[in-house]
Amino acid sequence: MVYPSTKLIKSIMRLGKRIVTFIGLSLVLMIVINFLATDKTRYASRAYVYRSHVNPGEIIHLAAPLFHDGVIRYGGLELQAPHRTTFEEYKPRQDVPLPFQARDAEEKELNFKEGGEGGEGGELTSVEREKLNVSPFIFDEVAEEESLRGEVAQQGVKLISGYLPFEQSFNKYSFKLCRYNSCRFVNNLTKADAIVFAARAIRDHPILDYVRPEGQRWIFYTYDPSIVYYKLHRPDIVSEFNWSITYQLHSSFPLLFGQLRRRSPPVKDYESIYSGKSNATAWFVSHCSTWSKRELYVDRMRKLMDVHIFGLCGDRKCGLIHYRLNDSTLCLPMLSQQYKFYLAFENAFCQDYVSEKFFKLFEDVDVIPVVRGGFDYKKYLPDGIYVDASDFKNPEDLASYLVKLGDNKEEYINMLKRKDRWVAVATQSIHCQVCEVLHKYSNTTTFIPNLNYHYHGEPSYCHEPADL
Ligand SMILES: *[C@@H]1O[C@H](CO)[C@@H](O)[C@H](O)[C@H]1NC(C)=O
Ligand SMILES: *[C@@H]1O[C@H](CO)[C@@H](O)[C@H](O)[C@H]1NC(C)=O
Ligand SMILES: *[C@@H]1O[C@H](CO)[C@@H](O)[C@H](O)[C@H]1NC(C)=O
Ligand SMILES: *[C@@H]1O[C@H](CO)[C@@H](O)[C@H](O)[C@H]1NC(C)=O
Ligand SMILES: *[C@@H]1O[C@H](CO)[C@@H](O)[C@H](O)[C@H]1NC(C)=O
Repeated sequence: MVYPSTKLIKSIMRLGKRIVTFIGLSLVLMIVINFLATDKTRYASRAYVYRSHVNPGEIIHLAAPLFHDGVIRYGGLELQAPHRTTFEEYKPRQDVPLPFQARDAEEKELNFKEGGEGGEGGELTSVEREKLNVSPFIFDEVAEEESLRGEVAQQGVKLISGYLPFEQSFNKYSFKLCRYNSCRFVNNLTKADAIVFAARAIRDHPILDYVRPEGQRWIFYTYDPSIVYYKLHRPDIVSEFNWSITYQLHSSFPLLFGQLRRRSPPVKDYESIYSGKSNATAWFVSHCSTWSKRELYVDRMRKLMDVHIFGLCGDRKCGLIHYRLNDSTLCLPMLSQQYKFYLAFENAFCQDYVSEKFFKLFEDVDVIPVVRGGFDYKKYLPDGIYVDASDFKNPEDLASYLVKLGDNKEEYINMLKRKDRWVAVATQSIHCQVCEVLHKYSNTTTFIPNLNYHYHGEPSYCHEPADL
């Protein structure tokens, strides 16, 4: 009788030990993950602080804390810098405009008549209509049709290579669903018709030694605001690029996070939508220390109104991992039902930079976007479908306005209705876009004289917040 019970106790103790070990290891892992996730923002914003406050004019001092020992620290990783560059004097040069860069305004005529125009919240003034006819952020049916009809015959298969470490994520895409699909990925740089370089790859990796064939295009690509790669630190290759594909409207082929498309007013019970909402404003955020200092801005707003913060920088969660802004089953419906406003605040004030934070709200999410960033919202987007922080002197003024608007049922519902006349359209993926331009512009020869200037601008395309 004694023997089996001892065995039992022993195995229970063993099990107990394993459980304790497991919990301990999990805790350590969680702490490490959390550290990695937050570390990145700390370094990134520290670099900016050096630029803006210590020595605004001298660019080299910006990166010095990051690069002084030849080691790049980013996202908790340490990478050996490709060369120790002392950034030589920065000489802006005029870029050669590309022949196909500007879209022809006259070609575009939006089909605004569809769905009836006089409906509630639906009127567009002629000034607004004119503005939207030339906005690249408004889905253009005519251009879309033309581009489908007037397809350039695809000649042969274009070979595309992604430059490390980009290629791992790039090469898995298929061209099957692309408008232009006669393309293939190759691993051999020499064979490629085009090499796509992610901004981070250029910053962190030396260019491999290989013979660049005549006619091979180098394409610079990134979704990130240019402040993220403040100076690419690559004087050796700044003049080597042919095309850029970034969010910037002056890039060779702009890569937009989304477009808005006009639609007929949906049928909704706006009264009940309104009455179901609390007075709080929601914010999903996990990047807690930013160039735009939005975190300080929101701190000040919160003295006058409720802002519910979801994610790493707040105390609320939606779903298992903080939130997913693209989660159409959970987080967006929650926004839709419970909140009047959503803070679509960008992490940096950079010209043309408006991210998916904004466009995601145009998928029948019944919430009014509050925007803050370097993008010219008024120039490119329909009026009266968002609240722009730049209209207010400071966060307090914005907060008082939101409280007032939130309490004004009629005005709030009107804004929702106006917003409901637009839905977001996803734009073409980067690999499809590369394939398309390789076929369409196969006979052109262009280059970007100075990528640093092209991407960062002089003065910089990004600026500091002016509302704090
Ligand atoms: C890459 O392609 C070039 C040209 O076709 C060829 O000479 C070279 O051997 C290839 N390299 C590899 C590693 O396959
Ligand atoms: C949502 O985001 C996750 C993580 O970024 C991604 O893996 C997933 O594909 C996205 N889903 C949609 C529908 O965009
Ligand atoms: C929310 O606003 C309504 C008016 O729209 C007001 O009656 C109510 O008291 C407010 N609730 C809170 C919690 O502030
Ligand atoms: C490029 O030039 C070739 C030869 O002149 C021509 O056949 C082809 O149609 C041109 N391609 C484009 C896209 O203009
Ligand atoms: C690409 O850029 C390089 C470097 O500026 C230039 O020498 C080359 O002619 C360009 N090629 C094409 C096809 O535009």
